[in-house]
This record gives sequence, structure tokens and C-alpha cells, in this order.
Amino acid sequence: MSIILGIESSCDETAAALVTSDREILAHKLAGQEEEHAPYGGVVPEIAARAHAEIITPLIEAALAEADLNLDNVDAIAATAGPGLIGGVMVGLVTGKALAMAANKPLIAVNHLEGHALSPRLANPDLDFPYLLLLASGGHCQILRVNGVGQYRRLATTIDDAAGEAFDKTAKILGLGYPGGPKVETLAKTGDADAVPLPRPLRGSKEPHFSFAGLKSAVVRAHQGGAYRPEDIAASFQQATVDCLKDRLLKALSDHGTVPHLVVAGGVAANGSIRAMLEKLASDHDMQFTAPPLWLCTDNAAMIAWAGAERFAAGLTDPLDFAARPRWPLDPSAEKARGAGVKA
Ligand code: KG4
Ligand code: ZN
Repeated sequence: MSIILGIESSCDETAAALVTSDREILAHKLAGQEEEHAPYGGVVPEIAARAHAEIITPLIEAALAEADLNLDNVDAIAATAGPGLIGGVMVGLVTGKALAMAANKPLIAVNHLEGHALSPRLANPDLDFPYLLLLASGGHCQILRVNGVGQYRRLATTIDDAAGEAFDKTAKILGLGYPGGPKVETLAKTGDADAVPLPRPLRGSKEPHFSFAGLKSAVVRAHQGGAYRPEDIAASFQQATVDCLKDRLLKALSDHGTVPHLVVAGGVAANGSIRAMLEKLASDHDMQFTAPPLWLCTDNAAMIAWAGAERFAAGLTDPLDFAARPRWPLDPSAEKARGAGVKA
């Protein structure tokens, strides 16, 4: 059994966690920055980096104290090394390197997307490779075939916005504030999903990818017209997103066949309507559906520690001069999608 310290700082959450190779979460600590970014309606990179730097050391100390451990008891230190806002990534990675050097422990440079991609295995010990993964967060929207640790085949990605980004922009348009996903979901509960005609970009398309930019523009027009209630716009937007995700997953299943498990990860996986659609889709195709608990879907350090544990078990550690990466695709061999390259 090994114990891994995980550190996450790639966006607007600072986090530290201690997780064992036996899937025991000994401690997990998280500090959000919502208040700092709220006045700007989105994450401001410089503010994020400064906030990470202020809180990261006390947060790691608090995690160690909660688990009643010190660095000598830890087997390896896993820190997010990208992709993400580079200033924030550097804060976490440099902290991880310093601790690794001081305590003479191996460093594991974790791809944040790999953290999301493997997080369902932390929650579900029965989830074996390979599995089909919908990875939907604020920065990414991809369908991946996860064949093993470090072995990812990207089947689809977004050619413009990510699904979470579309939720955040819809929230901004409707004046709901930041972060938008949970607020749109709550408002949508009281709205009529059929009230506002919105497009389903790329539905039925031969190319496998996602697109959400046109949906966002349609939300802007629907709101400006003044004819629709905000709750109806929210519900109709959410339904359009569900339909797009479903259509593209059906395309992936028809192009590449089924595997035993359908899995969702990333912040958008916290959405109840999306989960319900995925559950149905899985059962229609005789697949098992796995979704991590809500707190493990959005950014956290337990998933980074767990990805570290999986890599450590596979003998994968990294040199102390490993550089932070603003972009870091999980499947470097994937062809560029039309107009993409922006996100990963
Ligand atoms: O994975 P995550 O915490 O951070 C990134 O790596 O991006 O994902 C954050 C994204 C945000 O865009 C947020 O609005 C979205 O996940 N999100 C949701 C919900 N909760 C978070 N989107 C839809 N419904 C939700 N309940
Ligand atoms: Zn994330």
C-alpha cells in the first residue's frame, strides 16, 4: 500500500489530498476562489495564481494534519503539471517539486485531464479498462476510449467551446453569476425545456466532434429578444446540451462499438439531466454507467493523488525539471479537429 500526496492548482480551486493505492481518501482539502473572480464574471489568471500561492502551503499542512501524517509517511508527491492556467499550474508544480526535493520523495507530474479521466476508478473499484469516457469540464469536451493508465484514444473533441464553458456563458448572459453550471441547472428546474427553439450544433454530422458556440449565440439572441423567461432559456439550453452530448456519444458508439462501461467525468458530470441521459444511453446499449460522486467531478486534489497512485503503481515518476504545460493533450496522436487546437 502506498500513500500519495496530490496537489491541484490548474484553474480556480487550490486543493491538496492524501489518497492510498487502496482507494482510501485520508484527507482532502479545497479552497475555492469564487469571491475573488465573481466581480469579473470569470476566472482572472493573475488573481488565480496569486490566490493559489497564498493558500497552497497551509492547505497541504492541513491535509497532512487531518490524516495525521507527515511527509516522511508519503510515498510520492503528485502535482498537476498542466493543462491549465500556466501561473496557477506553476504554483502547484513548484510546490510539489520543493516538497519532493526536501523530503526526498519521487515527483509525479500529473495531467489534469488524466486526473479527471481516472477519477471514476477511485470511486468504483470494479471499473476496469477499457471504458468509454465523456470528459466534460470548463475547458474540455471530449469522448475518449480509456485503454489503460496513460493510454487514451480521443474519439471526439469540441471544435469551439467546451460544454462547461457554454453553461458558464449562458449563466453570464442570464445574469446568474459565476460559476454558472450549477446556477443554470437550478434555474432550469423551474423552466420549460421546449419553450425556446435552440439549435443542436453538429447533430447528425459525419464528423465526430462537438460544437457549442452556435448554441451560445442562439441563447444571446433569445435573451436579447426579451420574449422568453430566463428559466425557460436555461431549461431549453440545458436540453439542447443534453441532446448534443447524446447525439455525439451515439455517433462514437456506432463508429467504434460498445465497451462494458460508459463513464462520465469533469465538472459538467455534476449535472443531473446529463447524468440521467447517460444512464439511459448506457442501459440502452447494455453498458454499465459509472459517474463519480459530485465532489469528485469538479476540480479536486483527490483525483490528482489517485492518478498519481495509478502512475506510481505503474512505475511512472518524473524528473524534478518537468516543465509546466499550458496545453497537454491526453492523446497526442489525435488529429486536429476543424478549428480546434484552442483547448487541448
Ligand atoms: O472540471 P471542472 O471543475 O474544472 C475544469 O477543469 O474546467 O469543471 C468546471 C465546469 C464549469 O464550466 C462549470 O460551470 C461546470 O463544470 N459545472 C456544471 C455543473 N457543475 C459544474 N455544468 C453543468 N451543470 C452542473 N451542475
Ligand atoms: Zn478540471
